[in-house]
Amino acid sequence: MTLIRNGFILLCLIALSSAASVDSYEEAKIQLEEYIQNKKTEIDPRYRPLYHVAPPVGWMNDPNGFIYHNGEFHLFYQYYPYDSVWGPMHWGHTSSPDLVNWKQLPTALLPEEEMCFSGSAVSEGDTMILMYTGRRDTDDEPFFNESQYLAYSDDAINFQKYEGNPVLAESPNGSPDFRDPKVWKYSDDYYVIIGSKTLDNRGRVLLYKSKDMKSWEYLTVLGESDGDMGYMWECPDFFELDGKFVLLMSPQGLEPQGDRYKNVYQNGYIIGSFNYDTNEFVPEVPFQETDYGHDFYAATTTEANGKRYLLAWLSMWEVPHPEDTDGWAGKITLPRELSLVNNRILMKPVEAMENLRENIAVDENVGSDEEHEFGKAVELLVDSDLEQKVDLLLEGRDGGGKVWLRWDPGVRKVVVDRGSGDIRQVEWSPIGSHTWRIFLDASSLELFCGEGEVVFSSRVFPLGGWKLTNQSPQPLRIKAFNLKRSVPE
Ligand code: FRU
Repeated sequence: MTLIRNGFILLCLIALSSAASVDSYEEAKIQLEEYIQNKKTEIDPRYRPLYHVAPPVGWMNDPNGFIYHNGEFHLFYQYYPYDSVWGPMHWGHTSSPDLVNWKQLPTALLPEEEMCFSGSAVSEGDTMILMYTGRRDTDDEPFFNESQYLAYSDDAINFQKYEGNPVLAESPNGSPDFRDPKVWKYSDDYYVIIGSKTLDNRGRVLLYKSKDMKSWEYLTVLGESDGDMGYMWECPDFFELDGKFVLLMSPQGLEPQGDRYKNVYQNGYIIGSFNYDTNEFVPEVPFQETDYGHDFYAATTTEANGKRYLLAWLSMWEVPHPEDTDGWAGKITLPRELSLVNNRILMKPVEAMENLRENIAVDENVGSDEEHEFGKAVELLVDSDLEQKVDLLLEGRDGGGKVWLRWDPGVRKVVVDRGSGDIRQVEWSPIGSHTWRIFLDASSLELFCGEGEVVFSSRVFPLGGWKLTNQSPQPLRIKAFNLKRSVPE
């Protein structure tokens, strides 16, 4: 009897304390939104993007949970609101009807005993399910543990963490690096891939299957480094594109090779074939970088209306973030529509980007040494004679950062040069259009060459609006549009 009574009291205590923790979690969410609203007023807007997603305050890294749900796109991101440097990870949240106009939503996940590391989402009718890595500190070596968690929402705004977390407690080989689940549904099953490594430090991606996302069966290693492909594969993604399968990931530890792999960490993909009966991915085309710019990491995709869209963190680890003194750091690239041509992913800005064009600022042949000035948000279409050199300087009207876009017909390379040897370059053989389409925002440049076979995403920090100078020996045919704001201030 006493035992039964004690058991009952214990149950009541557990129920009370979990109700208290639910209440305090809800309370913490409310306080956080108040904090964000107040803190926003202190932000210095000089580098704030006008049409790229950025955190309202504080730090952002990877895009997470990119999904089309009930007629809207949802995009979450690694978020630390309390400082403009990395800290205990939350999931920030934005949504968009068209991938161009974005609305800020309340922070979706707050850390508790676990930090909320990167992950993905699935849409099931009115329910959205997030799957993310819970990263916990431990007392013993290696002093951290990574396992996979779920959170549910019926209104795509308020997310409840699943009581049975974690749903995937450890990696098959015991490696503590076990993160960034990308989940999708195929037929009646859920599949998830997770980034990890071998015990001798080779990056790998693990594949699992489930009926309910709660209990998972380990299937196989989907892909693994042979030793030259880095020590850890972060943020994997896997999807079908134009009849092939693409394993996209962010490998850490690639050695620079000539023009390639010059960023701190890389993002790229392997094209191959995959069979859902055998779960075997057969690589057919070796690893290629997705984007050749200075600042591109943790790319992720989603599918909607038969199209595959990609976006990435337009920044990098272990580099200066000049905007952090202004109260925020990090932004997301423009969403790009993907296609596969000649064993290469082509990336084009989503079509709806054209709706941002406000007015034509320039539409003429711009002679050598001619200058034009713009606001902070500009789209340029540049046509040139590719048998002659191109040298286009883009800089701040009031100084600050500058960047040269170059083409040398002798070596047939496109160059993005931020000065002082800070160069990214790659060979380009246009497969169709020869136009350069350039998107300038307050602290970024995205250059799409031709059909999107070569793309560069780089941060640049001009002061004032943009100024263009044609330093080429040839006139350039330039059409420029001022762009409207499409993200909150
Ligand atoms: C990639 C990454 C992920 C991790 C997250 C933590 O940039 O390191 O592997 O989940 O950032 O913020």
